[in-house]
Amino acid sequence: MAYSAIVVEKRGPAGLVRLNRPEALNALNDTLVDELGHALAGFEADDAIVAIVLTGSEKAFAAGADIAAMATMSWMDAYRGDYITRNWERVKTCRKPVIAAVSGFALGGGCELAMMCDIIVAGESAKFGQPEVRLGIPPGAGGTQRLPRAAGKAKAMDLCLTARFMDAAEAERVGLVSRIVADERVVDEALAIVDTMAGYSLPVLMMIKESVNRAFETTLTEGLLFERRSFHAAFGLEDQKEGMNAFLEKRKADFRHR
Ligand code: CAA
Repeated sequence: MAYSAIVVEKRGPAGLVRLNRPEALNALNDTLVDELGHALAGFEADDAIVAIVLTGSEKAFAAGADIAAMATMSWMDAYRGDYITRNWERVKTCRKPVIAAVSGFALGGGCELAMMCDIIVAGESAKFGQPEVRLGIPPGAGGTQRLPRAAGKAKAMDLCLTARFMDAAEAERVGLVSRIVADERVVDEALAIVDTMAGYSLPVLMMIKESVNRAFETTLTEGLLFERRSFHAAFGLEDQKEGMNAFLEKRKADFRHR
């Protein structure tokens, strides 16, 4: 598939996807999200790829859903077309870790896309917000659900009800962002995280991602049971034997992702 709204490359164990609609600050239209889904599926099927880095430009990760594409939509268009998350499922269901490397604006759907990722690395210029209220709509791709889970009710209400932007420092303080680095280092930092992960067992990374996400879907008792089942299942991996033997033999583990 030839991409027009994203640029895709492999960087060692990382799949790198760069959102690329500079004329619209990477506004998310159907083409872009379809292409993103296709790229993620490709990286997921690629045994050489451990995790995916999703980034934008220095000015914008993504300034939201494409307002020009939505402006004349009727209720029937939106409902029948299952706007806006019809084709966003691939981001949510990707089983390998996905890291958002965010510089500049991550607004509306852009903030929601970053929140679908597993780790957010922010550049110092990053600005997060859910300004949909200004457009006469509520958030539609998880803003009212993932933001309170990540940052708490107070910040979620504040951002969604006033359209105020949150800078990188505030976003890190409230737990939305994992790390802040200089803007020009944001992709390198995300790629370095993938390099670290590449030294571990991929099935174990996938188990961890699945288990942490389960924490937001279920009760503590069910979540703990799910975690314990993953823990037990890990004893079926060659990588578990290698990891523990390497510790006992005082050497670096050589995981084979099996
Ligand atoms: N959709 C379509 N085009 C967009 C866009 C968007 N979300 N955001 C920016 N653009 C376009 C602008 O229209 C402009 O195009 P032209 O040069 O052709 O006029 C270009 O990108 C550059 O933008 P600005 O000139 O506005 O740049 P700025 O630096 O002055 O302002 C900004 C930057 C504050 C991010 C401003 O562009 C802005 O407020 N954008 C909209 C943010 C927003 O409301 N996002 C939510 C969208 S709705 C949504 O996402 C729903 C959902 O929950 C899924």
